[in-house]
Amino acid sequence: MKERVFVTRMIPDEGLNRIRAEFDAIVWNKDEPPSKEKIIKGAQGCAGLVTLLSDPIDAELMDALPALKIIAQYAVGYDNIDIKSATDRRIVVTNTPGILTETTADLTWALILSASRRIPEADRYVRGGDWKVAWGPKTLLGRDAFGSTLGIIGMGRIGTAVAHRAVGFSMRILYYSKSRKEEIEKELNAERASLETLLRESDIVTIHVPLTDDTRGMIGINELRMMKRSAILVNTSRGPVIDEDALIQALGSGLIAGAGLDVFRKEPIPSESALFELENVVMLPHIGSASVDTRAKMAEMCAANLIATLQGNTPPNIVNPEVNENE
Ligand code: NAP
Ligand code: GLV
Ligand code: GLV
Repeated sequence: MKERVFVTRMIPDEGLNRIRAEFDAIVWNKDEPPSKEKIIKGAQGCAGLVTLLSDPIDAELMDALPALKIIAQYAVGYDNIDIKSATDRRIVVTNTPGILTETTADLTWALILSASRRIPEADRYVRGGDWKVAWGPKTLLGRDAFGSTLGIIGMGRIGTAVAHRAVGFSMRILYYSKSRKEEIEKELNAERASLETLLRESDIVTIHVPLTDDTRGMIGINELRMMKRSAILVNTSRGPVIDEDALIQALGSGLIAGAGLDVFRKEPIPSESALFELENVVMLPHIGSASVDTRAKMAEMCAANLIATLQGNTPPNIVNPEVNENE
């Protein structure tokens, strides 16, 4: 008999078709995420669960699904899943690292340039009929990325891919990460720095750490005060790494010049958010990995992890390998 699996959203066919071929698959086919109750109800008897980063997967949910053997996340970040509770219940958790690195680094650069050169603001200016003088000597002046200092917080896969692109912009590269990256220092002439030095010296600061207990609120008002008043802050990691209220204050009072955000404290952003009142922030709806090819590869990888695990093998992208200890 085929194992039952529950898929919390219509992921691309490259993965969904494989999952449907292998398993008795129940697929949530609405755009709105299923509530926890809906997942629990729909996934009864399921051995596998395919999740999105917007699905909170906690101990209560796991206890309500006793047949569960694997949670296959369709994303690299997995802060929505209580990993310890999964491991305690011998549930394997997998993610989709690597294949989305370059796509997310490209998007990070789109935000760096958009925020530095005020691109969306300029587009609004044109569309709004404000472009009345042919070439204004001081119209919409931005900041140069070329030749400036880039500060990378979290020199992992995406942070490194962002750094590679910075070489073409002749930037000085500073990084703050848990461990030293000697190869990257040699190859890209990057310098390891304390968080404070990075914040004080960078013209553009970009965040690439995962959301953990250590990184939650890592950038608060004190850190924003350390930054240059001309600096740009970019975040394509997870919203709660930044204290969003402090950021709103910093952007509104000129503590920093601008921000480019793909991720937020709450997604989608509540309509009453003060972010909407600020011209100097570029906001995207969490589209870091959103290219046709990358989303297809993520779906394939997610399916491969699910299939391997339910065939009794160790999946290629296991997040909690300790689950297999002391068997
Ligand atoms: P990764 O390769 O694991 O890189 C994360 C880096 O953060 C690691 O190099 C790690 O340092 C560093 N780090 C972790 N905790 C730290 C701390 N407390 N202080 C300083 N550095 C710390 O992950 P990745 O593939 O680059 O992805 C990074 C994150 O981006 C994901 O977790 C996800 O949340 C987010 N993401 C967002 C999108 C999007 O659509 N916007 C797309 C993909 C990923 P060491 O190497 O020194 O240990
Ligand atoms: C997207 O945010 C991811 O973590 O893959
Ligand atoms: C601008 O278009 C210039 O020619 O400098």
